[in-house]
Amino acid sequence: MNAPVRESLNRLGLAALDGTTIQKELGREALKGLSSLSDSFSQLVQDSQMGDGGKYRFRRYSRFLAERRYPGDRISFSLIAGNAIHQLKRDNPLNGGVTRTYSPLAKETLASPLLKGLMDHDARVLLELDPDFFAGPVTTGVHQVRIVARSEARGLPTPEGIHRDAEAYTFQHFWSKNGVQGGEFRGYDRNKVENFRWLQETPLDSVVFLGTTWHSATPISCKPGLDVGYRDIFLIDFDPTPDPRRPSQDP
Ligand SMILES: [Fe+2]
Repeated sequence: MNAPVRESLNRLGLAALDGTTIQKELGREALKGLSSLSDSFSQLVQDSQMGDGGKYRFRRYSRFLAERRYPGDRISFSLIAGNAIHQLKRDNPLNGGVTRTYSPLAKETLASPLLKGLMDHDARVLLELDPDFFAGPVTTGVHQVRIVARSEARGLPTPEGIHRDAEAYTFQHFWSKNGVQGGEFRGYDRNKVENFRWLQETPLDSVVFLGTTWHSATPISCKPGLDVGYRDIFLIDFDPTPDPRRPSQDP
């Protein structure tokens, strides 16, 4: 199933994953958690570390250690400490160069079989694409993000504009939107020439992209006559890492 995904990743550095297909793969049982997980987006925390001073982004972030279990191809995830991210200024001119710390995912979100199913899904895709990727431990970051638009101010999903994320692979999962227009995902080649655009509409319409892939999303604004609206996504990123539970070899 991943031949077209692999071809697209090789050609564009990203690949679109159909939301309806992912929903089917997750199964009816996991999807029962859809509404409670949707509710958790209203409990996100305002991002006070925006380089542009914006107050339109709400988020939470937690990290896991992903490890392959033998025999078989199961990937286990265990929650690890640390809720900080650091991007380089050259990848993210607006918010790079500083360490940003976020509130962790809510307890109910961490316990959600649906979120677990989504992480398992992404790990399965990576295992097929790159069988050696989980040869060692992999840090997995889960960002839960809501961008709010108000009648007087647009919301910016990527205020930094065209940027890169440092992790080896990132899955952007569109969750929902309400009362807004815009929010189109865009991808670019190495010269930042646009080569991909997708207005995601179906829950779990997703894009997987590489750490070298330039990308952005267009601003969201309220539909005419509305005062407020929002667009919700999960970002799940994967990056090989030394096992943080092992003592450092450094003196
Ligand atoms: Fe990004």
